[in-house]
Amino acid sequence: MYYKRRVKKGPIIAIVVIILVIILVICGINLYKYYTSDEYLLGEAGYSEKEIKEILKFDEKYITYAIENKYEDDFIPLIKEKYFLWKNYDNYIKYIDDVYGDKKVDYSKVISLVNVGANFEPYTHTKKTDMDKGNAILVNKYTSLPEKYAPSDVVEMSNWYSYPGNSIRKEVYDAFREMFNAAKEENLTLIVNSSYRTYEVQKEIYDDYESNRGKEYADKYAARPDFSEHQTGLSVDIFSPGSNMSTFEGTDEFKWLSENSYKYGFILRYPKGKEDITGYSYEAWHYRYVGKDLAKKVYDSGLTYDEYYAYYLDN
Ligand code: DAL
Ligand code: ZN
Repeated sequence: MYYKRRVKKGPIIAIVVIILVIILVICGINLYKYYTSDEYLLGEAGYSEKEIKEILKFDEKYITYAIENKYEDDFIPLIKEKYFLWKNYDNYIKYIDDVYGDKKVDYSKVISLVNVGANFEPYTHTKKTDMDKGNAILVNKYTSLPEKYAPSDVVEMSNWYSYPGNSIRKEVYDAFREMFNAAKEENLTLIVNSSYRTYEVQKEIYDDYESNRGKEYADKYAARPDFSEHQTGLSVDIFSPGSNMSTFEGTDEFKWLSENSYKYGFILRYPKGKEDITGYSYEAWHYRYVGKDLAKKVYDSGLTYDEYYAYYLDN
């Protein structure tokens, strides 16, 4: 007798069901992964494929921010800027909205201005400088000295180095003399025209400008008392004999200082073309002592001291 073998269907069905379940689970996991991926969520936030590729190269905190907040077309260009500071992000956006509207945005400029506080009107959002920074202290229209600050180690300058009546902090005097001697070797003569100024003297200078030429003019050329680098005892106005504010820029002494002052610890504090960042008219003669190491770093960076401090020292 021949019996047809009966195939048991039960186990086969069970295997098929298991395979189907596995396939479903894998599909589910993959779908879940896709819908929770940064890529998908950035797309949901409104970013294009090209933008997503760029954002995914950023630090995790920026990616999270982009996912959790509304689409912002300034987000990527701002973060790509060299001196971008996350703590200033909201201020960058506000500044761009207030100032640029639909115009093409100069992101590098936005970063510079906001980093130094120049998105606000001068003297409206001020704080006290961190005196622990020593020779590196920042003093500008947003950062003041302690009230009526006066350094304790100011010494008188010899008339060999300065016009009569100048005094400066001892360390700065030593550095200036070293610089003076180096310039002399090139047959150049540096002479200090103005140096340490007390609160009262700075006030007189500012008030004088203000009463003669008005506030706007005064603020372009002179600092208000407690906001002047001269009051720190770390700054000097340098000329060559016979030159003045209008002519010094054209002298060999100026050229030499431009290339060498940092080697002695001095930086040009109010450079040409950076008026909106420093808040002052270009001053070819105003040098600030910060010490040799820092002066070289600032010089190499090509930044104003306000920008350098905001990015590298204000933490
Ligand atoms: N002229 C500089 C800015 C000052 O008065 O301190
Ligand atoms: Zn000066």
